[in-house]
Amino acid sequence: MTPECWPVYGLRITTPRLVLRLPDLGALEKLAAVAAAGVHGPDEMPFSFPWTDGTPERRARTTFQHVLGTVAGWQPEKWTLSLAVLHEGEVVGRQDITARDFAVTKEAQTGSWLGLAHQNQGLGTEMRAAVTHLAFEGLGARALTSGAMTDNPRSLAVSRKLGYEADGVEVVPVRGEARTVRRLRLDRASWERHRSLPVGLHGLEPCLELFGAERG
Ligand SMILES: CC(C)(COP(=O)(O)OP(=O)(O)OC[C@H]1O[C@@H](n2cnc3c(N)ncnc32)[C@H](O)[C@@H]1OP(=O)(O)O)[C@@H](O)C(=O)NCCC(=O)NCCS
Repeated sequence: MTPECWPVYGLRITTPRLVLRLPDLGALEKLAAVAAAGVHGPDEMPFSFPWTDGTPERRARTTFQHVLGTVAGWQPEKWTLSLAVLHEGEVVGRQDITARDFAVTKEAQTGSWLGLAHQNQGLGTEMRAAVTHLAFEGLGARALTSGAMTDNPRSLAVSRKLGYEADGVEVVPVRGEARTVRRLRLDRASWERHRSLPVGLHGLEPCLELFGAERG
């Protein structure tokens, strides 16, 4: 059931292998379990905010609260869409897209992860292609940004394949150490040149106002 007052629960983005949607409680429980089972090796920390540190139970609760927090805190001037990614009906990871004053800037930023068992099969590329389509085709974005640690070749490869270009670096404190993030930027023209996957958007129209986006 899609709550009438929160139509974002009815939004679906589809690619040849994936469905992306805001998780209801059942899907959120599954997403939390995927996070608990592991997102990266113990010696790695691909995130600027090290939310994966700690026990599996803590990762599960952090994931659960993060997604509900995005719904609770949503404003058209500052939103985060945190989507569960489903492959063959199974929840495999999360794809976020976030923006401040999208109505003015027409820019948004993405972040994502897959459970360890689902990585390196092209799904990360497909889910990012899904939200780039939402942003450019559905919401009328002018540019998207992303970032990855310099030692995260898979995330950097996903961005490169989809047409993102280098946009400088930034040093951030992570677990008390200085880490370098490579910033990346995808403009509409480069997205057009690199898009290769068919992506479907369903149930977007009633959500446009919440994104600060105009009807096309
Ligand atoms: C980053 C992540 C979302 C990417 O998803 P994925 O499904 O694993 O990635 P894909 O399979 O779509 O693409 C990975 C690409 O990296 C390439 N790659 C893999 N290992 C590589 C390496 N060591 N060096 C260079 N390229 C590498 C692959 O060949 C592939 O490119 P190709 O399709 O041209 O062959 C996923 O790996 C993940 O969740 N990692 C842990 C969390 C994380 O890092 N999140 C992002 C934080 S910025």
